[in-house]
Amino acid sequence: MAAGSALKPERKLAIGRAQVSVFETKQNLFEAAAEVFFGTVGDAIAEGGRCTIALAGGSTPKALYSMIAKRADQQEDLRRLDWRNVHFFFGDERGVPPDHADSNYGMVLGTLLKHGLVPPRNVHRILAEKGVADAALLYEQEIKKYFDGPPKFHLILLGIGSDGHTASLFPGTAALDVRDHLVTANLVPQMKAERVTLTYPAINAAARVLFMVAGDDKKQAIESLFVRHADLPAAHVQPAGDLLWYLDREAAALLPA
Ligand code: 6PG
Repeated sequence: MAAGSALKPERKLAIGRAQVSVFETKQNLFEAAAEVFFGTVGDAIAEGGRCTIALAGGSTPKALYSMIAKRADQQEDLRRLDWRNVHFFFGDERGVPPDHADSNYGMVLGTLLKHGLVPPRNVHRILAEKGVADAALLYEQEIKKYFDGPPKFHLILLGIGSDGHTASLFPGTAALDVRDHLVTANLVPQMKAERVTLTYPAINAAARVLFMVAGDDKKQAIESLFVRHADLPAAHVQPAGDLLWYLDREAAALLPA
């Protein structure tokens, strides 16, 4: 298959403001997502001299992050991008220290940052080891300081859980109702966990949001969202800018033909 064709979705549909693309394989999804990532970096740097990206946690993005790190390390045109002015933030973090197996920062460190893509000072991690309440306050202060006002991330990468959560905005949790903060701690009883997460105001101010959803276990959540228009946390991600959903064939299996 010609390399170029791997980037083209096999289906594209507009559902509300969401631009939904369905890819034959997870690999094709990630190749297309990498194009969005690099394209956003190049455009943002060209337009304003810097790029801000909030990274998704969980397992789905691992392969994408590794692909991005490898291509940026090996491809001359990508290596020449002005990575000194690219800043990474996090959509959420688990209530664990950075060296814990569940840490989103730890996952990013071992994938996207494996080859030192950006200077360490450009990685704005959530200091979850300080406790989720303090970590949320510190992270919000860091975001406000960096943006010198309300944040407008050039790109926010997100995933979705089978229950329709995104970032750490879980069904039935207090974070869903936070509108006066950019970041909040969130107790998630159904997971017996505590998290730190960007809130809807921070996410919905983004210039572009890209959801990446792969696997058979997500097909019901996708059907709930896009067929039954269920009131799931991910449904409330309605950014001012682009709302892109990249699905693989398995995750899109219950969408109407
Ligand atoms: C996290 C993420 C979370 C994730 C979904 C999907 O910290 O886990 O922020 O929202 O995107 O749970 O996770 P998977 O990609 O592992 O299925």
